[in-house]
Amino acid sequence: MEFVSSDEVYGDVSPIKISDQRMYDQKPFPLVLSPTSTSSNLAEWMIRNRDNLRKLLLDHKAILFRNFTITDPQGFHEVIEASGLEGMEYVGGAAVRTQITSRVFTANESPSSEKIPFHHEMSQVPEPPTHLFFFCERAPADGGETPILVSAEVCDRLQAVRPEFMSALELQGVRYARVMGEDDDPTSAIGRGWKSTYLTTDRVEAEKKMASQGVSWEWDFCGEGTLRTVTAALPAIRVDSGEGRTGAKTFFNSVVAAYTGWNDSRNTGEKAVLLGEDMCPCDADAIADAVRIMDEICIAFKWQPGDILFLDNRTVMHSRRPYVGDRRILASLVRDYST
Ligand code: FE2
Repeated sequence: MEFVSSDEVYGDVSPIKISDQRMYDQKPFPLVLSPTSTSSNLAEWMIRNRDNLRKLLLDHKAILFRNFTITDPQGFHEVIEASGLEGMEYVGGAAVRTQITSRVFTANESPSSEKIPFHHEMSQVPEPPTHLFFFCERAPADGGETPILVSAEVCDRLQAVRPEFMSALELQGVRYARVMGEDDDPTSAIGRGWKSTYLTTDRVEAEKKMASQGVSWEWDFCGEGTLRTVTAALPAIRVDSGEGRTGAKTFFNSVVAAYTGWNDSRNTGEKAVLLGEDMCPCDADAIADAVRIMDEICIAFKWQPGDILFLDNRTVMHSRRPYVGDRRILASLVRDYST
């Protein structure tokens, strides 16, 4: 294990280098922090270093905690609680997930053969999480990385090659259309049924939640019990604003994820992304450029059991590669604007 610099030590935790890491804005991305002694306890470190943690995340956008002895969901839960950041429920997202503790649930349970494209978590809802935690409980035999990238870099690169597409996204925003079954469909990457999407079995209750998010709906769209929803026009390019924030434009949308990935027995990705008042489909060539750029700038490290990845969801996009073997990655959402 190679420590980066002895003067960058935060108590008994210090930065290390890993091979799957890059520099962005002259800083390691992600920052990788590791214990300097066998008695280091991450939850205790979090409590002592809450201000440090916020500053480090602002600077680096992603932090990987590696080599700590966290082995189960409860240990992960304790680290999240120790961060002092406020949690949020998973309401309105598309993925099938299972709640494990009050703050921990499984990451997207879609089939292991499926790739999940780059996205900001829940960018299709008006108030997405500000931060995410991921925890590797079991690492797969092969693949299954959670690649990450800096969203502002996508904007810069895409602006240079597709300026019209970028201004359409920026000026008009984007709507997402999705058809759900009544119950979860684990064979689909977007298989969350409407009952678990809106955490109710009652249509009137679901309608209240949809209306509160500006979503329009049509029941029994393609069979009894199905539901087609179309979101309000949501901002697709955001500015990472606020005190101490980067001020950069971010590719804050699920355009690529929906266009390339929302395919199942009820949905076709190309019909899932709607631009402008006329709800036009996206330009396929622009999407292809976005995918290419994302693949060029992302980093993907191999998960190790006990790894915790802490992401700034306002500036970082993530994805999932297909995998072989028994993989269990847990997740937790944060909505906390204090940092
Ligand atoms: Fe995600």
